Amino acid sequence: MVYVGEAPEYKLVPLRGFSLISGIHSPEVVDQIQNFEIQDSDVFVITYPKSGTIWLQQILSLIEVKGDVTATINQLNSERVPWIELLDSRKQFVSAPSPRICVSHLPYKFMPVGLKQKKGKVIYVARNPKDVLVSYYHFHKYANMLETPKDFDTFFEKGKEGNVFGNCWFEHVKSWFSHKDEMNFLYITYEDMIKDLRSVVERITSFLARNLTSQQLNDVIEHSTFKNMKNNPQANYQQIPVILLNHQLGSFLRKGTVGDWKNYFTVAQNERFDRVYQQKMKDVPLSFIWDMNDLITP
Ligand code: A3P
Repeated sequence: MVYVGEAPEYKLVPLRGFSLISGIHSPEVVDQIQNFEIQDSDVFVITYPKSGTIWLQQILSLIEVKGDVTATINQLNSERVPWIELLDSRKQFVSAPSPRICVSHLPYKFMPVGLKQKKGKVIYVARNPKDVLVSYYHFHKYANMLETPKDFDTFFEKGKEGNVFGNCWFEHVKSWFSHKDEMNFLYITYEDMIKDLRSVVERITSFLARNLTSQQLNDVIEHSTFKNMKNNPQANYQQIPVILLNHQLGSFLRKGTVGDWKNYFTVAQNERFDRVYQQKMKDVPLSFIWDMNDLITP
């Protein structure tokens, strides 16, 4: 999406209990998504913001070209695997050749009815919410369509309460996970990708029924590392217009690690967050990795 002229005024606008960003989303467009006709070959990647969306855009772009990165150099990943909720996405989605692959931060209730009838496929990527909060704090500092936070403490309160685009992390994960049996659904985590990218990519290719040789798989993985994505203009989004992202102040590919929250959360904030987590997730059979050390298996 390219904007010319004056920057739109961005603010959060409510739609059925969810906040959209005016200027890049519209309630009418988002409300139409549920009527999209779904084909069996459609793939929806769902994430709460800052959970590895652009990582999946790169992986899926590469899987479709069997690891040949030169086949992806003419197009931004965000055009190849677009956000379905953006203003101009409908036309793009309807006219895209099969397989149509898109990403979305929307909660389950906005999704096409067809997905709930086991048409198409859904890949849900979750990331531990403490690292999401820190990553999102940094994103707010350089994303011009989001309010610049005063400091981390202020953002901690906002993020914890879900007063951000994406709303409440807990509700997002729960809304999708509790309906997983209605869909062709694959659940993966950011931390598993950090731990063993190959095995997650294998799970994705098998879920999508794509046949890649072991060399092609190696190529997908090689071009999806943090370092290579940071140097890849189609994947690092340095070309997204300044009207949306101030590239002087940050980058999508920021740190790419597990446990960075420990550099930001105070002990008191961590205890408060843990209490909320225990309460909100008590009936949800999901667990997360919170620290890089927990990734090392003895
Ligand atoms: P950090 O800010 O913690 O570094 P999203 O695409 O959903 O906005 O998520 C962005 C987060 O995913 C950023 O986290 C970014 O660094 C991380 N990420 C993207 N590609 C990655 C990769 N190849 N390896 C590790 N992390 C990656």
